[in-house]
Order: sequence, then C-alpha cells, then structure tokens
Amino acid sequence: MKSGMDLISIHDLSADDVEEILVLASDLKARQKAGIPHPLLAGKTLGMIFEKSSTRTRVSFEVGMYQLGGQALFLSGRDLQLGRGEPIADTARVLSRYLDGIMIRTYGHERIEEFARYSDVPVINALSDLLHPCQALTDLLTIREHKGRLAGLKMAYVGDGNNMTHSLMYAAAKVGMHFAAATPVGYEPNETVVQNARADAAETGASMTLTHDPKDAVQDADVVVTDTWASMGQEAEHGARTAVFRPYQVNRDLLAAADRRAVVMHCLPAYRGEEITAEVLESFADVIFDEAENRLHVQKAIMALVMGG
Ligand code: CP
Ligand code: NVA
Repeated sequence: MKSGMDLISIHDLSADDVEEILVLASDLKARQKAGIPHPLLAGKTLGMIFEKSSTRTRVSFEVGMYQLGGQALFLSGRDLQLGRGEPIADTARVLSRYLDGIMIRTYGHERIEEFARYSDVPVINALSDLLHPCQALTDLLTIREHKGRLAGLKMAYVGDGNNMTHSLMYAAAKVGMHFAAATPVGYEPNETVVQNARADAAETGASMTLTHDPKDAVQDADVVVTDTWASMGQEAEHGARTAVFRPYQVNRDLLAAADRRAVVMHCLPAYRGEEITAEVLESFADVIFDEAENRLHVQKAIMALVMGG
C-alpha cells in the first residue's frame, strides 16, 4: 500500500495490498509480544471521529497509535462542530491541517467518501452502514492463524446482509476464499457490493453464493461467521428483526452441517440467544477473542502503511 492512501473499502485494495497488511500485522504482533519497540509513527497524530459507539475500534486504534510511538485523539461527533452541522468538507480540510491520519466511524458510507475527498491526510473507514473493512481484514488474519491458509477455504456468513457481510465478501473474494451468505428474504447484501465482489472473485477463482437457507450456506464451511441482527442505528427494528432472523441463529444444530473442524467467528458485540447461542460462542471463545485482539495488530499495520513514510 502506498503511503497516503485511504482505506475505505477492501474492494479498492489489490490482493498484494491485502497480503502486505496481513504480513506486517503478523510481524507487528510478534514484535509487540516480544517487547520489541516499533515506533513506526513517532511524532504522528491520528484523529478518531466517532459518530457511533465503539469498544474494540476505539481502544485498539488508540492503543495501536501509542504502540507505534504516536498519539491519538478521540473526537466524538457530538462534541465536534460536525454534530451541529459544520459541513464534512470543511471539517476534513481543517482537521487535515492538524492531523497525520483520520479514522471515522459513521452512518452513511457517503459521509466517509466525502470526508476522504476533502482530506489531505489518509482516511480510514472504522465502520459505516455499508462496510467494516478493518474488521474483515482482521478476520482474514485470524483465519490464517487458525487454519494456516486462506485461498480455497469456504466461509459461510449467516444472518443480516450488513456492513460485515459486505466487507467479508470483498475480503474473501480478494484472497480466493469461497463465500456463501444466508440471509432472510429482504435482508440480502447490497447488490452493487455483490457485483463488485463477484468481479473480484472471478479473478481469484473464489465462488460467491447467496441463499436464504442457512444450512446450504454452512454446508462443509471451514469458517462460520455471524453478526448482530440489528446493527447500530437499527435499534427500533430489533423486535421485528428478531422474529424474522430466528431461523438464522448459529447454534449446534446449524454447525452440524459445517466441516467438523470449522471455526466460528463474530466481530462482537454478540447477543447471546439471538444470532449465536452462548454455548457456541463460548466454545469458540479462543478464536473470537483472538479476532478481537487482532484488530490491534491489523490496524497498526494499516496505519503504519498509510501514515508512515
Ligand atoms: N467489532 C467492532 O467494531 O467493535 P466495536 O463496535 O466495539 O468497535
Ligand atoms: N453490524 C454491526 C457491527 C458492529 C461492530 C453494526 O454495524 O452495528
């Protein structure tokens, strides 16, 4: 990845960019565990704009910047003038004068795209309604750690066709991992994302399957992924969604269709008894909390690549 690049969508990355991120993330993880300092961003400052809640993203980006020798500023959308209507274009141009990189978590994906258009410093998508690339790249690292490879594996996603589904489709397509998603009727993934992912998959030989049948999707899968049924901003739909999504729960019965060595992943926060049973979550806690930890290492790699040099 070139210094100065934005990270808005995995679809914009080359397969080599993805590999570079994963290799550097593993290297930084090893250095961190061995206590070897790695101040690749000494003297640099990351701005972190949050218009939605966060536990993992906020702490892992902030700590990641400290470990790279830089600083991080938490900027709540509520406290910025942005929250009172200052245009994104102005906010981006102003913050670019102070900061070396900006991470944004927001609602509409077009807000991040507009911010990036006006920003002179790299912009990292820390979740929009459409995409969550940092999480999906992290999931690739975690799968490689647990399965030893990526290309040729099968990932099944079961649940809402949401930001995680979209970024996982892009991630799987880039690395040649077969992907199947099972969503209820009316909750399918975004059509443009599906088209883009299919184009990427055609280059790497990955298959992309969309179904409404969870067992079909999970059949012989090496990795089974789920996510909340009501994402941030959809809280009012929670009750109605729970009824529709009930057959899409990741439980023992569903997992019986997967490969017997399959791992289960969840970006967290998880809602036990809804998209995943407590029993399944706890039996894959080693993978799921590695996944949470790996946000730190992958985002450090992304920041070092786009903000370094
Ligand atoms: N998985 C994830 O992005 O978690 P947070 O919402 O806590 O940042
Ligand atoms: N799909 C979830 C992911 C949370 C990390 C949401 O957008 O709320």
